[in-house]
Amino acid sequence: MSPARFVLAALLAATLGAPCARADTPPEKAALCAACHGEKGVPIDKAIPVIWGQNEGYIYIQLRDFSRGARQNEQMAAIVAQLSREDMKALAAYFSTLPWPNLLQKSAPDDVVRRAETVAASAQCPQCHQGGYIGASVQPRLADQSETYLLATMRAFRSGARANNDWMTALLKTYSDDDLKTLASYLAGL
Ligand code: HEC
Ligand code: HEC
Repeated sequence: MSPARFVLAALLAATLGAPCARADTPPEKAALCAACHGEKGVPIDKAIPVIWGQNEGYIYIQLRDFSRGARQNEQMAAIVAQLSREDMKALAAYFSTLPWPNLLQKSAPDDVVRRAETVAASAQCPQCHQGGYIGASVQPRLADQSETYLLATMRAFRSGARANNDWMTALLKTYSDDDLKTLASYLAGL
């Protein structure tokens, strides 16, 4: 190791070192998640969302909302019942650092892309979900998320079954089911 690198390594060891767990060590409770969200980040079922590489703030808020009941899902309710606030924070930090998996979803056909981009522009989806739909902070990444899940969760916002974000509910109420299918197919294929 060169002297400069040695100093850097020593400094890093001093700042990141001892009592804290190493950032690349999975939190203990992460073992609970793989059964559904996948050993390598590919969920075992198309109705289950990707969480590897999802944004940290967003993951934490969802775990919190499942535990408060603002977002309802039986499977996730059983999981969050076993988590403290610290566990949720550690899990959000950990999963956000993992690489987004490739779900091998096909790009949407050109006519679907054109229609989706028109709807997205009128609704200003990229203003919050960012260019490339990778999201940021509390705004979720949508690009290459499972199409089945995207459609289901947009329908759930619209019907009010997913009631943890009034803005998304109000916005999606103004679009038809065909629009949601178009958006889901487009986003999944990005
Ligand atoms: C028994 C299966 C199961 C297990 C185990 C499980 N999940 Fe989930 N998870 C789901 C399902 C199903 C959904 C989608 C719920 C919905 O449609 O609203 C979900 C949704 C989520 C979401 C919301 C993602 C989004 O895009 O909105 C997060 C975050 C999440 N899970 C994190 C975790 C973490 C962290 C663990 C481990 C501590 C875990 N899950 C364990 C089934 C599971
Ligand atoms: C004003 C900002 C804003 C705009 C505009 C917006 N969103 Fe969102 N969206 C959010 C936020 C914030 C969340 C996270 C809500 C939560 O915490 O549950 C979200 C959540 C979502 C989710 C759930 C993702 C998941 O993993 O469960 C989908 C899908 C989505 N938005 C699609 C869209 C689409 C499609 C458009 C355009 C038609 C759009 N959004 C416009 C802010 C926005």
